[in-house]
Amino acid sequence: MAWKTLDDMDLKGKRVLVRVDINVPMENGEVTDATRIERIVPTVDHIQHAGGTVILMAHYGRPKGKVVPEMSLEHIAGTVAEVLGWPIVWANSDYRDAVKELENDEILLLENLRFNPGEETNDEGFAKRLASLADIYVNDAFSAAHRAHASTEAIAHLLPSCAGRLMQEELSALENALETPKRPVTAVVGGAKVSTKLELLGNLVSKVDNLVIGGGMANTFLAAQGMDVGKSLCEHDLADTAREIMAKAKAAGCAILLPSDVVVAREFKAGAAHEVVAASDCPADAMILDAGPRAVEAINAALGESQTLVWNGPLGAFEIEPFDRATNAAAAEAARLSKAGKLTSVAGGGDTVAALNKAGAADDFTYISTAGGAFLEWLEGKDLPGVAALKG
Ligand code: 3PG
Repeated sequence: MAWKTLDDMDLKGKRVLVRVDINVPMENGEVTDATRIERIVPTVDHIQHAGGTVILMAHYGRPKGKVVPEMSLEHIAGTVAEVLGWPIVWANSDYRDAVKELENDEILLLENLRFNPGEETNDEGFAKRLASLADIYVNDAFSAAHRAHASTEAIAHLLPSCAGRLMQEELSALENALETPKRPVTAVVGGAKVSTKLELLGNLVSKVDNLVIGGGMANTFLAAQGMDVGKSLCEHDLADTAREIMAKAKAAGCAILLPSDVVVAREFKAGAAHEVVAASDCPADAMILDAGPRAVEAINAALGESQTLVWNGPLGAFEIEPFDRATNAAAAEAARLSKAGKLTSVAGGGDTVAALNKAGAADDFTYISTAGGAFLEWLEGKDLPGVAALKG
């Protein structure tokens, strides 16, 4: 790897500023999913046990440079302490004093970085203020690495820097999936709109052997092939783009799998009356809400022949039954093959993890990324500023 890790750093007696992503979902003041906090435990434990003092810094939400009390990290300091198993001291703004007063084993958690306008502008001054608190900088926030912010980019040039354990794990899982994968590689890309995933599709067709397109995006591709998709979600204005992606795939030897049959309904609601029809037979007054059973068979056959899978986005309207069936069935097959050691499966991005959890498949995937937007940008083939800065 081109960057240093915790193993390259002498941490004893050092103050270590660790950028983490604890932007976790909350409801009524309670953290509803602590996964992102759980995943930073190895980094924190390593530094603490090596005799360093951890100073955690993170953002929460998008307060846009202003103090928004509901987005204070004070609200999650208790959960952070519980999950990490170390005493946490939360610091509002007198960071320096707080660092001086830290006692044995205590970890400092700085207030939401995005309360300061300098964070999102990647301000050198703000980065210097943060850097002055510590001797070493560790970035363990892969899921925020697509942002060139003071705590992810500028600061990496001001202190001896390295990647934390989670960052390392994410990068190596992603490299194994797309940079140096065992072939054949299948990518499953779903979700509502082609427009949000254009760059991603364009990049993937030159890297993978099979590209499964699902969700609302598939309708745009079906329509681009001249099929009537009735009232389905469809970006008709992107027909040319869809055809270009298909041509690029053909030239690159990447097989595109579109659903040959689909589940259609007249209403978008749970339990709505539905039927399975050929993709070319969508009734004019109906909408496509899921891939059909023959489509799932084809996807599962492709998975069976693959050694590597990258998954982003659901295959249908997975939030409402019974339109979650294709996503559940393909996810279950990917999980089964992964568990049997036949497939290396990596999934990430927004809805994806929720869909795989709902399908009960996430635990058997080889790797589930904590990243949403960063995972997408990485699939697009972009350099992530937070990762690039670690390379020096
Ligand atoms: C995320 O939740 O994906 C990260 O924390 C990044 O958040 P952002 O999209 O607000 O930068």
